[in-house]
Amino acid sequence: MSDIKAQIAEKGTLALGQITAAAELAQLEQIRVSVLGKKGSLSEALKSLGQVPPEERPVLGALANEWKSKIEAALETKKTALEVLAIEASLEKTKLDVTIPSRKPHVGSLHPITTTVRAISKVLGRIGFDVTVGPEIETDFLNFEAVNIPKDHPARDMQDTFFIGPGVVLRSQTSPVQMREMRNQSWPVRILSPGAVYRCDSDATHSPMFHQIEGLWVDRKVSMSDLKGVLDFFAKEMFGTETKIRLRPSYFPFVEPGAEVDVSCMLCGGKNHQCPICKGTGWLEILGAGMVHPRLFELAGYRPDEVTGFAFGMGIERIAMLLHGIPDMRFLFQGDLRFLKQFGVQR
Ligand code: DAH
Repeated sequence: MSDIKAQIAEKGTLALGQITAAAELAQLEQIRVSVLGKKGSLSEALKSLGQVPPEERPVLGALANEWKSKIEAALETKKTALEVLAIEASLEKTKLDVTIPSRKPHVGSLHPITTTVRAISKVLGRIGFDVTVGPEIETDFLNFEAVNIPKDHPARDMQDTFFIGPGVVLRSQTSPVQMREMRNQSWPVRILSPGAVYRCDSDATHSPMFHQIEGLWVDRKVSMSDLKGVLDFFAKEMFGTETKIRLRPSYFPFVEPGAEVDVSCMLCGGKNHQCPICKGTGWLEILGAGMVHPRLFELAGYRPDEVTGFAFGMGIERIAMLLHGIPDMRFLFQGDLRFLKQFGVQR
């Protein structure tokens, strides 16, 4: 009996030693099979119990079971330990540094033309101008005739137009929106209309597609001094409170009288004879304006003896270039991110 006892203890002790030394889960499984498996060493020892006298069997059986549970427990403990080690090792391999700053999500920025339109609309919105838009594909009639530029009128030469079909043009100005609005609603009208316009022209200061914003205010007794007041307010809000405006008589078929409007140079204030933007004149032309021609009221179905109004139209690129000191208009349309990113994320 003591022989078998010793055998069991020896095998058990050996197994425990192996378990302690095991470095991998697979090894542990091998040990389990070699000790506790059907043909395992402990199982074999139990089988040999058949040869011992029956009265000794319970003692030996209990001993063997004791070892069996010891080994099972040791296997389990070691298994858990090895699993933890395996997880730690794999974490070590794919090490994540949660303190590294995350990548900034890519958000685009608004184009300077968009921000300029919004800035202009915001300023004039404060004095009651509502924004409305017209189509870029326009009839010859609305683009020209309805704003008092008949066929063969020399004023058509001022706007080299893309004709895209019989009687259909890419609008060369936003002025047709004046007529669309007046035909759409009765007076009073106080609108702003921004958008793209097209002319067959291309150099550092001209692009075949550019943007304008049209303004129209029609009501009883709107006068030239209202026009000056609105433009003065606009210039001071856009370019700074020191800014002055000046009106020079000019001709546009849809207004009478008509004027070209300058703002005082925001860079040099007229003090630098070599100023790169005003060329030393102290003034920068920014828009055309005037009192709405009675002919337009007739065509719109308004009574010229009942209402008056003023209109103005300005190039948005020019304003954006002045606001941001952009030297070449083409930068605005080249889609170069190095240029566009300078305007930051504004929404
Ligand atoms: N439509 C003119 C142009 O493109 C700009 C303009 C001038 C608009 C005078 C107006 C205005 O409304 O009154 O050159």
